[in-house]
Amino acid sequence: MVFVKQVLAPAAALLWILLASAPLSRADARDGCLTCHQGLGDKPSALFAHDIHAARGVTCAGCHGGNASTDDMEQAMNKTAGFLGKPVGDGISLMCARCHSDSIRMASFHSRIPTGQFAALQQSVHGRLSLNGKERMVQCTTCHGAHGILAVSNPSSPVHPLNVVATCTSCHNNAKYMRQYNPGLAVDQLEKYRTSVHGVRNAAGDGRVAECASCHGSHGILQAKDVRSRVYPTNIPGTCASCHSDTVHMRGYGIPTDQFAKYSMSVHGIALLEKKDLGAPACNGCHGNHGATPPGVESISKVCGTCHALNADLFSSSPHKGAFDAANLPECETCHGNHEILPATSGLLGVGPDALCIRCHSAGDSGYSTAGTMRVLVDSLELGEKSARSLVEEAEQKGMEIAEAKFRLRDTRQAALEARTMVHSFDGARFAAVIAKGLATNSSVAEEATKTVQEFYFRRFGLGVATLIITVLAVSLYVYVRRIERRQAGEGKKTGGTPLA
Ligand code: HEC
Ligand code: HEC
Ligand code: HEC
Ligand code: HEC
Ligand code: HEC
Ligand code: HEC
Ligand code: HEC
Ligand code: HEC
Ligand code: HEC
Ligand code: HEC
Ligand code: HEC
Repeated sequence: MVFVKQVLAPAAALLWILLASAPLSRADARDGCLTCHQGLGDKPSALFAHDIHAARGVTCAGCHGGNASTDDMEQAMNKTAGFLGKPVGDGISLMCARCHSDSIRMASFHSRIPTGQFAALQQSVHGRLSLNGKERMVQCTTCHGAHGILAVSNPSSPVHPLNVVATCTSCHNNAKYMRQYNPGLAVDQLEKYRTSVHGVRNAAGDGRVAECASCHGSHGILQAKDVRSRVYPTNIPGTCASCHSDTVHMRGYGIPTDQFAKYSMSVHGIALLEKKDLGAPACNGCHGNHGATPPGVESISKVCGTCHALNADLFSSSPHKGAFDAANLPECETCHGNHEILPATSGLLGVGPDALCIRCHSAGDSGYSTAGTMRVLVDSLELGEKSARSLVEEAEQKGMEIAEAKFRLRDTRQAALEARTMVHSFDGARFAAVIAKGLATNSSVAEEATKTVQEFYFRRFGLGVATLIITVLAVSLYVYVRRIERRQAGEGKKTGGTPLA
């Protein structure tokens, strides 16, 4: 495969030279397979000298089967002795799985490394069928080689952190090869990675930075859009934090290790991790996937602006644009921060103790006075919205028909949101215009609600008067009837009970 051609062939030649000058150990000499094959001078036996398996007591027969205790070719490589021959296709990975998916067998070699690579690989994105339809696209040997397999920690291993990028990109950087499988998949990972702090340091020999496998995993790699993938949006912060929040891992770099802690309490972190809102940025939403670098002063507004386009547009035309550029201040971050971004409130605006504006503006400058005015305007808009809302609620509680005004409360909300965004123009006049529009909406809703409430009182007043009149009438009628009755009774006594006629 690609890797075998590019890396193993030259390595084999080198090892052969080394081996030719090295005496055989006694253990090797007792292995019939190795003895004869070394005599043949073939590559497998040459490479095997430095194989982790050789070092751990796994022999040729451990993988290939057969009878290692004889130097007779026929007997040694006989199917009845369990000889498997040269494995092909999925037979290769199955050969490895016989040990690496069997923890009991691995324990018999006193090994404690994880097992289960085979199952993970089959279920991974690399476990699909290859173009010939006969075998899986990727076998264990694609990444590890066959003879001359090294421990991951060995700097010559193709999956050592400093080499794994070359191993993965032997395919992923090969547009012609990749197109056959998935024409839609980008092939620019290497190019971008090389521009990131991770990539630059990795190329310079730093094995602690992120490489392909630290973000994607190794055997169980899944499509980015798979919810179980380590790079699925809701999983990304944890993936990055596995290093960036680890003070031991990050020791010596001199950068903070609080990004995850701050992010998970931020408006973005809560939206993504708690509300599962995929519209909110995970770490890569701001840092990029492969060009994972901190956005510089230049690109930071563009990053926030990919989602908060209006704020970014307004900022660009604001007096702060030029002033911040001149002072080399990042646009949005200067006021909102980066990882700890909190919900924005009007408290940030104005000249109060929590206001951002007083960090740079002081009494006397025009920014200061504009900031104060903007706050007063925002407060009055807020107050207007509140009173419109409570009037509508009052009318509703009194059972009045208020659907129209209630619907228009949305406009008052919209006006408030518009004003909050318009803050970013940092332009007193433009801001006042938006506020004026909002206040007009508020007062027309309030007016309608007030009318409805008045109507309620009017109706209730009308009903009260009618009831009163009826009651008064009823009472006076009653009194009148009683009086007549009493009068009759008096006359009856005088007349001796003669009925009224
Ligand atoms: C006495 C010499 C001798 C011994 C012992 C021997 N082999 Fe071989 N082996 C050969 C030769 C020669 C070939 C090449 C035969 C061929 O190409 O048909 C070969 C071929 C192979 C192949 C490649 C088969 C293929 O299908 O291409 C494998 C794998 C192999 N041997 C493994 C082993 C193992 C494992 C043992 C021990 C159990 C072993 N050999 C013992 C001489 C030996
Ligand atoms: C860790 C498992 C493993 C061990 C141990 C191992 N082999 Fe292999 N061997 C393989 C695999 C897998 C292949 C198929 C490789 C491929 O597709 O390139 C193979 C292929 C071969 C072939 C065929 C090569 C060819 O190009 O046709 C020979 C010969 C061979 N092995 C001999 C040996 C000998 C001799 C030893 C011991 C010195 C040995 N193997 C130890 C896994 C192993
Ligand atoms: C796509 C490349 C790739 C393939 C295919 C692959 N591996 Fe790995 N393997 C790696 C990487 C990378 C590591 C380094 C550890 C890490 O970063 O997780 C590794 C590590 C290992 C380790 C060390 C223990 C561990 O799990 O970390 C073993 C054992 C191993 N692989 C065996 C296998 C076996 C068996 C197969 C086939 C079933 C296989 N690998 C297929 C890339 C691969
Ligand atoms: C006979 C059992 C057996 C077979 C078959 C086998 N391995 Fe291993 N493998 C081992 C043992 C034992 C170790 C050493 C584990 C240790 O150091 O704890 C090992 C180590 C490894 C390591 C190094 C892990 C590390 O510590 O970084 C890799 C990679 C690996 N094997 C890959 C393979 C591949 C690929 C195949 C198939 C071509 C294969 N193995 C076949 C038993 C086997
Ligand atoms: C033998 C070539 C080959 C090697 C080596 C290889 N890949 Fe892949 N990889 C592919 C192909 C082909 C696909 C596309 C499969 C598909 O879309 O069905 C793929 C898919 C992926 C995907 C999924 C992309 C997506 O979101 O759809 C990721 C992630 C990935 N590989 C990462 C890696 C990493 C990390 C390594 C190294 C540890 C690696 N690959 C090694 C060929 C390879
Ligand atoms: C710092 C973490 C990180 C590193 C390092 C990394 N990736 Fe990715 N990778 C990601 C993220 C995040 C995504 C995209 C997830 C999404 O689209 O939502 C991704 C996506 C991919 C994809 C899908 C296609 C695409 O480009 O969007 C492939 C293939 C891939 N990576 C391969 C690689 C390879 C090969 C390397 C090594 C050169 C690598 N990655 C290094 C985090 C990383
Ligand atoms: C394998 C561990 C590891 C993983 C996983 C990892 N990083 Fe890093 N990252 C590092 C190390 C180590 C540095 C080097 C620090 C330095 O040079 O300042 C670094 C540097 C950075 C830098 C540059 C810091 C600076 O200003 O110097 C950024 C930004 C960054 N990583 C973001 C991310 C993001 C986002 C993710 C997840 C998508 C991620 N990293 C995943 C280890 C990792
Ligand atoms: C809303 C955008 C955004 C998100 C989300 C984000 N970052 Fe950042 N990150 C930044 C900005 C902006 C900087 C500062 C760049 C500068 O000042 O040069 C930064 C700086 C960094 C640095 C450099 C060291 C430091 O703290 O200043 C690292 C490392 C880093 N981020 C990692 C992460 C990780 C890990 C996550 C996810 C948990 C993450 N970032 C999420 C925007 C973001
Ligand atoms: C000079 C300080 C300052 C700068 C610079 C700044 N903001 Fe704001 N931002 C504020 C204030 C103050 C508020 C709160 C307004 C309110 O609620 O009344 C706010 C509110 C917001 C809101 C919530 C309101 C809305 O529009 O939905 C977002 C989102 C926002 N800012 C994004 C950004 C982005 C993106 C940038 C960079 C282009 C940026 N901000 C630059 C001060 C600033
Ligand atoms: C991937 C898109 C995306 C990026 C990039 C992004 N944001 Fe956000 N942001 C959101 C979403 C979605 C919300 C709303 C979260 C919620 O539901 O509360 C939000 C909320 C906010 C809020 C709070 C708004 C409020 O109403 O209180 C501020 C402030 C903010 N972002 C500033 C920034 C800054 C500054 C940056 C750049 C450093 C940035 N955002 C980058 C998507 C993004
Ligand atoms: C990081 C420092 C900084 C912060 C924080 C800041 N400003 Fe400014 N602002 C400046 C600078 C520098 C200028 C340009 C010089 C000047 O006119 O004072 C400016 C100019 C202005 C202007 C234009 C003044 C004019 O003369 O036309 C307004 C309006 C303004 N700021 C409002 C605000 C408001 C409102 C806030 C709080 C939400 C704020 N600023 C926060 C630094 C800042």
